[in-house]
Amino acid sequence: MGLFNNFIGIDMGTSNTKIYYKDRGIVLREPTVVAIDNYDETIRAAGNEAKEMLGRTPKDITAVRPIQDGVIADLTSTETMLRRFVKEVCGTSFFSKPRAVIAVPFNVTEVERHAVKQAAAGAGVRDPRTVDEPMAAAIGAGLPIAEATGSMIVDIGGGLTEVAVISYQGIVSSCSVKIAGDDFDDAIVDYVRRKYNIAIGGRTAEEVKINIGSAYPYENEGRELIKGRNIIDGLPRELEITASEVREALSDSVAAILEAVRSTLEKTPPELSADLIERGIMLCGGSALLRGIDTVIAQETGMPVYIAPEPTDCVAIGAGMMLEHIDEFDNDDSYGYRMA
Ligand SMILES: Nc1ncnc2c1ncn2[C@@H]1O[C@H](COP(=O)(O)OP(=O)(O)OP(=O)(O)O)[C@@H](O)[C@H]1O
Ligand SMILES: [Mg+2]
Repeated sequence: MGLFNNFIGIDMGTSNTKIYYKDRGIVLREPTVVAIDNYDETIRAAGNEAKEMLGRTPKDITAVRPIQDGVIADLTSTETMLRRFVKEVCGTSFFSKPRAVIAVPFNVTEVERHAVKQAAAGAGVRDPRTVDEPMAAAIGAGLPIAEATGSMIVDIGGGLTEVAVISYQGIVSSCSVKIAGDDFDDAIVDYVRRKYNIAIGGRTAEEVKINIGSAYPYENEGRELIKGRNIIDGLPRELEITASEVREALSDSVAAILEAVRSTLEKTPPELSADLIERGIMLCGGSALLRGIDTVIAQETGMPVYIAPEPTDCVAIGAGMMLEHIDEFDNDDSYGYRMA
C-alpha cells in the first residue's frame, strides 16, 4: 500500500457496493446489506455475510439495506458498512486513508449528496467527491463522453433505472424510475402468491429471475422448482414455475423501463437523436443481464442496443477513472463536466 496513494471509485448501489482501485480494477463487490444487533445497535456483519442473514435472521439481529432506491436511507449503517469495505480494500493505517469519488444518482437532492460525502468521510475517505452515476457509467462503459456526438446510457440496477443522453461531458436529457431488479423480484413474489397462493422469499425470487427470467422469449426456455409456504394452510410447498410465467410476472416492470427510455428520447434534441440512431444505446447495471432486455429495448426504439462488457461494475470503474483524472477535472475549463 502506497503512502497516501490509495485512489478508489465507489458505487454504493441499492443491491451491491462495488469498489474500483486505481490500476487494480474492481477489488470489492458485496451486497449493500448490514446486520444490526437489536440490543446494542452495533453492526454485526456487512456485505455477503449480512446478506446471508436477510429474511432468516434470529430475533436479536436485523438485516437491513441501508441504501434504498439509490439513496442513503440510514446514515449510520451506511457509514459503518463503508468503513468496513474501505478497510478491507485499503488497509487500516492512517496513511492508507484513500481518496475517493463516489457515484450518486443524477437526481439526488443536495442533502442526499451531502449525506453520501458525510458517510464517506466518516468511513475514512479523504476529501470525498461525488459524481453523477450516468456519467460514471458512461465512462466505465467506454462511451466517448468527451466528443460532440451523443451517447445514451441505460443503467438498470437493483432499485433504480437511470437513462441519460450525454454529450460534451454533460447530461443533455435524462429520466430515472424507481423500477429495477428488486422490483423484478417483488413482481415474481406477487405473481406466485396471486396465482398459486404460495409465499416465497425475495432471495428465491431473485434466483428464479437469474436462472430462467427474461423480458423476451428465448430458446430452450426452462422451468424452475421453487419452495415456499402455502398461505392458506401454512405448510411448506414445492412448485414448478415456467420461464413464460416469469416473463409475464416481469412485464409491467419491463414496460416501465421502456417508458423511461422512450421519454428520454423524446426530450433529446433532434441533432443528438440522429447520433443516437447511429451509435445505439448502451445498457449497464446488473439487471442489463436479464435475458432479452436488450431485444425489447431495440424493438421498442428501433435502435441498436449493446450491453457493456462488465455491466455491474461500470459505475465504480467510471468513478475510479474520474479520480485518476481529478486534477484535469478540477483545473481544466475545457472539461464541461465537474465533480461536486
Ligand atoms: N444474470 C442476471 N439476470 C438478471 N438480473 C441480474 C443478474 N445478475 C444480477 N442481476 C440483478 O442486478 C441487480 C443488481 O444490479 P446492480 O449491482 O447494478 O444494482 P445496484 O447498483 O446495487 O442498484 P442501483 O443502481 O439501483 O442503486 C439485482 O437486482 C440483481 O438481481
Ligand atoms: Mg447501480
